[in-house]
Amino acid sequence: MQYIISSAGVKVPKIIYGTAWKKERTTELVVKAVQAGFRGIDTACQPKHYSEAGVGKALRILKTQGYKRENLYIQTKFTPLSGQDKNNVPYDKDASLSTQVAESFEVSKRNLQTYYVDSLVLHSPLFPHADLVKVWRAMEFIQKAGGALQLGISNCYDLEVLKRLYEDVEIKPSVVQNRFYKDSDYDVELREWCNAHNIIYQSFWSLTANPNILEDESLISIAKKHNKTQAQIFFAFLIHMGIVPLTGTTSELHMKEDLNAVDTLLEDIEIANISKLLY
Ligand SMILES: NC(=O)c1ccc[n+]([C@@H]2O[C@H](COP(=O)([O-])OP(=O)(O)OC[C@H]3O[C@@H](n4cnc5c(N)ncnc54)[C@H](OP(=O)(O)O)[C@@H]3O)[C@@H](O)[C@H]2O)c1
Repeated sequence: MQYIISSAGVKVPKIIYGTAWKKERTTELVVKAVQAGFRGIDTACQPKHYSEAGVGKALRILKTQGYKRENLYIQTKFTPLSGQDKNNVPYDKDASLSTQVAESFEVSKRNLQTYYVDSLVLHSPLFPHADLVKVWRAMEFIQKAGGALQLGISNCYDLEVLKRLYEDVEIKPSVVQNRFYKDSDYDVELREWCNAHNIIYQSFWSLTANPNILEDESLISIAKKHNKTQAQIFFAFLIHMGIVPLTGTTSELHMKEDLNAVDTLLEDIEIANISKLLY
C-alpha cells in the first residue's frame, strides 16, 4: 500500500475500504479486504448504515492472523442526530452536543476494540455555526486525549462552511470526505482550497455517481491501452489527483482491481483527457 502523510502526520492509505451497508457481511468483507491488501478502513458510529462492531470483530480476527493494529488506518465518524435512525441512536439524544460526541466515541472504541482511531470524522456539518464549533471542540478534546490522531469532516460542500470552521478551531481538519459528483461540480474549488491547506480529500460515490465518465469513449480507450477496467482507470485518475477514493466493493476480484489502481500510472495526456470529462 502507498500512503499520503496528512497534516497531522498520519499515514493515510491512497485507497480506503468503506464498510457502509454491509450489515452482517461486514466482518467477513473487512477481513477479506485487509487480506487483499487494504490498510485503511472507513466506518461510522451510525447503526443505520454501518456495523461498526462488525468492523471491530474483523480487526480482532485480523490480529490473530498477524495484522497489527498500528499498521491499519481506522477511520470512524460522529454522526449528528439528524443522520441517525431515531429508534437506534448510539448515544443519549437528549444530552448536550459535547456529551453526544463523547458517548458516541466511547461506543466506537468499544465496537472497534481499540483505544484510538486514526481519524475521527464529523459525518456532516451542523447549523448554526456555533453548534458545529461545539461538536468540533468535543472532537478536539478526544484528539488531545489521544483518542484520535486526526480530525475530519464529511458532506461539507459549501466552501464557506469549511473555511469558517478552519478559522474558528484550534485543531484543523486533516480530511474532507465528500460525494464526488457533478451536482457539486466535483468540488473543484473546495478541492483546490483543501490542497492549499494540506487537507486530504476523500471521495465516495466515485463510481456510482459517474457512469457517464466510466462509459465515455476516451476513458474506455485508455482502459484498453493499459489493459485495465474503466473503474481502475478512474480510481487511478483520482489517486493521481491526490484524491483518496473509498471503495466498498463486495467482490474479491474488484478488491484486487481497486488496489491495483494505486500502482497504475497514467500519462499526462490521459490525465488531461479524463479531466475534461469532469467539466
Ligand atoms: N460520508 C458519507 O456520508 C458516506 C456516504 C456514502 C459512502 N461513504 C463511504 O464510502 C464507501 C464507499 O461507498 P460508495 O458510495 O462510494 O459506494 P460503494 O459501496 O463502494 O459501491 C460502489 C459500487 O461500485 C462497484 N465497484 C467497486 N469496485 C469496482 C470495480 N473495480 N469494478 C466494477 N465495479 C466496482 C461495487 O460493486 P461490487 O460490490 O460488485 O464490486 C458497488 O456497486 C462506503 O462504504 C462508506 O465507507 C461515506
